[in-house]
Amino acid sequence: MVVMGIETSCDECSVSIVADGRTIISNVVATQIDIHTPFSGVVPEIASRTHTEWIWEVTEKGLDEAGTSFSQIDGIAVTNRPGMIGSLLVGVCFAKGLAFSLGKPLAGVDHILAHLYAVQLERQVEYPYIGVLVSGGHTLICIVNDYAAIEVLGTTIDDACGEAYDKVAKHFGFGYPGGAVIDSLAQKGDRRAFSFPLPSLHKGDHAYDVSYSGLKTAVINQLDQFHNSEYEKTNENIAAAFQHAAITMLINRVKRAVKDTGVKRIVAGGGVAANSLLRKDLNELEGISGVEVHFPSLSLCTDNAAMIAGLGYHLIKSGEIQGMELNAFSRVKGMRKTYP
Ligand code: KG4
Ligand code: ZN
Repeated sequence: MVVMGIETSCDECSVSIVADGRTIISNVVATQIDIHTPFSGVVPEIASRTHTEWIWEVTEKGLDEAGTSFSQIDGIAVTNRPGMIGSLLVGVCFAKGLAFSLGKPLAGVDHILAHLYAVQLERQVEYPYIGVLVSGGHTLICIVNDYAAIEVLGTTIDDACGEAYDKVAKHFGFGYPGGAVIDSLAQKGDRRAFSFPLPSLHKGDHAYDVSYSGLKTAVINQLDQFHNSEYEKTNENIAAAFQHAAITMLINRVKRAVKDTGVKRIVAGGGVAANSLLRKDLNELEGISGVEVHFPSLSLCTDNAAMIAGLGYHLIKSGEIQGMELNAFSRVKGMRKTYP
């Protein structure tokens, strides 16, 4: 079954053609980064207008690169939650138009579940696995039992991990998007220049939760208090110390999740899964008691329509399809202990 995936939840306009939920035939990602750079963040109104202007061209390119045509598409899958509502609506309305005119089944796909599925496009990872979803909008540690069934263990109680990266970068004028810039500055810095405090969320209901708001504020406002005077206050050192704290917090929770659940496979996903320190530290867990760690390639960590088409295949195959009533939702419920 050949599925066309459509992703417009944030600032990437993407269309992909995937066969049988696994084989990527094409994956076109048109990023709006240059358009939003002057604002140091995504401007929702500009993002949705740009999706409207780009979506047709990106779709044609997706078909061209796959060497296929609409007649060979068996179904349409589109991100319909969560995300920026105006941007989501562009993809959803476009997908509805396509599905209606082609007479093909339509599936609304959860962006979070799609990030947790992305790795399956490159290798078959057996369920269950501990999912570590870290993006600009979400931070989630969960047990992934199947393509659409996860149990949330922990989440952020305030900012998402990528959001903290973006806000710290914006404050110091490091550039946009913040994650990749801080990651590369950090390679040249020394993390010992600052000791930023980590939240002590480790008890009861919060055993697997993270919090990035305090760390972000500490980095932005209280550099003196946490500064080790033997080191200079360079951008590189600030980046390295922030990155060390942000990733260590996450790794500690993941380790605990593996220990407590006995699930020995870890799969990361989302934009921050492209982070070099997260990849290094998670990979190091592989040496410990038979844990397997899987990351998607960098291009499948950040937003892309291949993961939407991949998960959409399973939804369509199992009859979880929608008609013209399909709607978009900026948020999803049940991020705590059950999901969706
Ligand atoms: O998954 P994604 O493309 O979009 C959302 O669903 O949010 O993730 C974007 C986020 C941004 O916050 C960006 O700064 C972060 O991923 N990011 C990174 C890196 N590359 C992208 N964060 C840390 N290190 C990176 N190398
Ligand atoms: Zn995403």
